[in-house]
Amino acid sequence: MTGKAEGKILVLGATGNVGLPLVKALLAKGETVTAASRSGRPVEGAEGVVFDYADPATFGPALDGVDRAYILLPAGHVAAKELLLPVVEAAVARGVKIVFQSVFGAEADDAIPYRQVEIAIEKSGVPYVILRPNWFSDNFHTYWKAGVDHGQVAVPAADGKTSFVDVRDVAASAAAALTTDRFDGRAFNLTGPEGLDYTDATRILAGVLGKPVAYKAIDDEAFVSLVAGAGVAEDYARLLAAIFYPVREGWAAVVTGDVETLTGSAPRSVEAYARDNVAALTA
Ligand SMILES: NC(=O)c1ccc[n+]([C@@H]2O[C@H](COP(=O)([O-])OP(=O)(O)OC[C@H]3O[C@@H](n4cnc5c(N)ncnc54)[C@H](OP(=O)(O)O)[C@@H]3O)[C@@H](O)[C@H]2O)c1
Repeated sequence: MTGKAEGKILVLGATGNVGLPLVKALLAKGETVTAASRSGRPVEGAEGVVFDYADPATFGPALDGVDRAYILLPAGHVAAKELLLPVVEAAVARGVKIVFQSVFGAEADDAIPYRQVEIAIEKSGVPYVILRPNWFSDNFHTYWKAGVDHGQVAVPAADGKTSFVDVRDVAASAAAALTTDRFDGRAFNLTGPEGLDYTDATRILAGVLGKPVAYKAIDDEAFVSLVAGAGVAEDYARLLAAIFYPVREGWAAVVTGDVETLTGSAPRSVEAYARDNVAALTA
């Protein structure tokens, strides 16, 4: 079943890192997409709809005529469970299939807020797919862009490796999960093709950009002041610092075949990410 003859697909965060390539991928498959953001502007020709996690009155209209939804919480929010559960409930009440963007490692402990949202979806009775992406390669032109500019990316990763995943592969995985029922009822851990430490990753960036970019291992407190100084809210900076613990432990190094299972294609490397994002990395 492809669902094409059915209703619309609601994409939350449709102008964001994953949402934008996801809208493009779904339109390319011939799907009808409703692109949600606070502005409600159309995206790539898809109709826009106003949706705000802070305003439950926007949930119903956004879900109107929708039979599948991509639910993700935009970056910057700490209260994951409190914000996500009401949206999940609104989708479940309408019998909407949910593809949920969770986080890598959420299954490690049922006390993790993202895992609690996963459990609520698993128990809801609607068809669902859970996607757990590892750290995005794209963080190098978002969170770590100032570091790339200055030639030194400083994070509390020690020498831990990460199997960075390209947001285009997260989006392609999401598009597959939304447009077939073959993957329903399952969770997928989305990774890139190899585990790299930040020395490896910055060396790759330096090679592609033709300028020095190095890695400096720092501790949590130095990291929080650095990113808070760059404009990230302090509570979110602390959350980011906390999720480097699994990186230092080596748990983020795991490589899975889940992107290929979902999309039929091998995931992109950090080098491919860098080559295709030179403009964003040097803007
Ligand atoms: N970065 C990583 O390495 C990584 C790795 C794994 C998982 N994740 C998870 O991925 C998620 C973030 O995904 P992303 O980077 O694709 O998102 P993102 O780019 O941060 O999301 C931005 C989008 O959300 C919309 N938005 C912002 N505030 C909103 C609000 N209050 N209500 C509704 N929409 C809002 C924005 O449009 P408007 O501004 O117009 O509203 C925009 O469309 C997080 O849950 C994070 O935990 C991230």
